[in-house]
Amino acid sequence: MATTRLEGKRAVITGAAGGIAIATALAFARQGAAVSLADLDQSAVEKVVTKVSSQGGKAKAFVTDVTSWKAVESLMSGADDFMGGIDILVTCAGGYKAYAGFEDIHEEDWDQVMDVNLKSVYLCCKAVLPYMKKEGWGRIINLGSLAGRSTSAGTSPAHYASAKAAVSMMTQYVAKDVGPCGITANTIAPGTTLTDRVINLLTPEKKELFTKACPLGHLAAPEEISDVITFIASDESRYITGATIDVNGGRLMLV
Ligand SMILES: NC(=O)c1ccc[n+]([C@@H]2O[C@H](COP(=O)([O-])OP(=O)(O)OC[C@H]3O[C@@H](n4cnc5c(N)ncnc54)[C@H](O)[C@@H]3O)[C@@H](O)[C@H]2O)c1
Repeated sequence: MATTRLEGKRAVITGAAGGIAIATALAFARQGAAVSLADLDQSAVEKVVTKVSSQGGKAKAFVTDVTSWKAVESLMSGADDFMGGIDILVTCAGGYKAYAGFEDIHEEDWDQVMDVNLKSVYLCCKAVLPYMKKEGWGRIINLGSLAGRSTSAGTSPAHYASAKAAVSMMTQYVAKDVGPCGITANTIAPGTTLTDRVINLLTPEKKELFTKACPLGHLAAPEEISDVITFIASDESRYITGATIDVNGGRLMLV
């Protein structure tokens, strides 16, 4: 297999200080892409830039709140200046702070979770499209979740699961509108993935429960998600658009 599947490509990755995004940034750089890395956490995203650069990659940090249109517009324009164009968008910013049953979700938490998981994806897609249309080629890769695919998966709160389900549908609308421009848009829906945040959240009981529910017998390493993202970012995925790709070791499909 070629080792430079993304040679010359230019990618924006949001939530870039998080586990799946870090694995994606490193994989993209190994495959020849330049990366613009956006996160709220300045020191953490700068560390990721240092890591990518130390492996020979071209990377720049952007301190960005992806829930703000102004900030997202400025991210895309800064990334365009840095890389000379944008071909790939990966929206990893997301998550939720704590589990709550439906009736215990407060209005402010609902809004915050919707903003970071859904509105941010809408803003990033909208802001990146003019750059991709200029190229006549583009890959939009949005992070959904197993939580947005079925309630059977377990213990995610309703606001997070609802936002992730909406990401899949919104991505289909994007795909339909911009397919004729040479741009694909897909959702990757990971199952439980062992990023630092999740490792800290998982009790031993939950870890055992989720692992048992997974026919492949282990929870995902971030690289098991970033490998799929890298494939979708490449030209090899050119006939896939509007799909939600379930990457969960069989946990959804085989129950
Ligand atoms: N890890 C999992 O088990 C899992 C499973 C399914 C889906 N996902 C989804 O995949 C994506 C990546 O997950 P992860 O576990 O690697 O993430 P993570 O929690 O490790 O990192 C998320 C990053 O997003 C950043 N962020 C939060 N709000 C932001 C904002 N307003 N603007 C910019 N950046 C912001 C945080 O600073 C953090 O660095 C998320 O969307 C998550 O919901 C993760």
